[in-house]
Amino acid sequence: MSASLRGNWNYPTTIWAGPGRIAELRAACERVGIRRPLIVTDEGLVGTPMIKNALAALEGNAALRDTAPIEFAAVFGAVRGNPALSHVEAGLSAYRSGRHDGVIAFGGGSALDAGKVVAFMSGQSRPLWDFEDIGDWWTRADPAGIAPVIAVPTTAGTGSEVGRAGVILNEETHQKKIIFHPQMMPRIVIADPELTVGLPRAVTAATGIDAFVHCFEAYCAPGFHPLADGVALEGMRLIHRYLPRACANGKDIEARAQMLAAASMGATAFQKGLGGVHAIAHPVGSWFNTHHGLTNAVLLPYVMTFNRHAISDKTDVIARVLDLPERGFDGFLAWVLALRTELGIPHSLAEIGVHTDNAEIIGREAALDPSASGNPIPVDAARLQSIFRAAVNGTLGAVDSAA
Ligand SMILES: [Fe+2]
Repeated sequence: MSASLRGNWNYPTTIWAGPGRIAELRAACERVGIRRPLIVTDEGLVGTPMIKNALAALEGNAALRDTAPIEFAAVFGAVRGNPALSHVEAGLSAYRSGRHDGVIAFGGGSALDAGKVVAFMSGQSRPLWDFEDIGDWWTRADPAGIAPVIAVPTTAGTGSEVGRAGVILNEETHQKKIIFHPQMMPRIVIADPELTVGLPRAVTAATGIDAFVHCFEAYCAPGFHPLADGVALEGMRLIHRYLPRACANGKDIEARAQMLAAASMGATAFQKGLGGVHAIAHPVGSWFNTHHGLTNAVLLPYVMTFNRHAISDKTDVIARVLDLPERGFDGFLAWVLALRTELGIPHSLAEIGVHTDNAEIIGREAALDPSASGNPIPVDAARLQSIFRAAVNGTLGAVDSAA
């Protein structure tokens, strides 16, 4: 193991980073007082050696017995991509019937979000949608009814492991709702890059660009937040350097470790805000069930070119930090387009099954999405619909904010 890839960090939460650290899962449970953990994971992971090894790690080393015993551990593995209320309800029923006292959210963004929301809802009496991230609705929650969470990410993108919210789909309205509470932040994150080496190249690419978009939109969002800006710039530098390496060789542990860190940095930075890419990606994901990271990866240049006049100073800084051969907005855009091509990301949303039949609804819902308020140029439903149409059709530069 490379000692340089190992670290214990204390912001934005406790993070145990480094290869092989999943072996410390039992110690993490003891640290936060979990004796009956429910592992919440997705359909793709349940039954894999990764989950079996996690259960073995919970049993601990019988010879050492250096930590308090785990009374009972179980796995709820029915989370799907773009998790919905029905997944949360099924997880809650597993949590209650097993009399669990904490959640190990294990997997990609969907499993992490679902696990966090199950833990949050475990002791609440009001319905889930009462806790949407609107105004001070989070104060409706009973803090004593929020179970502790240990997060174990297996993709490097969403950053949900260091987030205080979970995105849950309302299947009746086709809307993704952000459920927020400050105590939804996982108590401990185990950031073990060995858990990400099996990720297919396409998922590595899509989730990695999602992390990049988190950093980019946070950096470009208006507002005074130098802490977030600094984290975002370094996150982009790491992704520029290591995402192509992680895609070229999935077993490159250094690249995987740096990408895992960059993903957490993206979600740390976007406490400042996001922007038009996420505002459009959310309703597109709700209506077309597209992969979130891939949707963002396709959308990024269309929203960038729309914002061009408001972000040219910032993209110049980014181009210098990334040490791109061509500086300024054009140099940065050229790099984004080349990276997408190198990683096999399609150029238009049409290529991932999205059409414009309900473009009006997409525009309207994008305008209502909380991410829209972070866009550097104010956007309304009509402008977002135009950007969406351009992205479906692959007509880059078709929508000019100055028009
Ligand atoms: Fe995202």
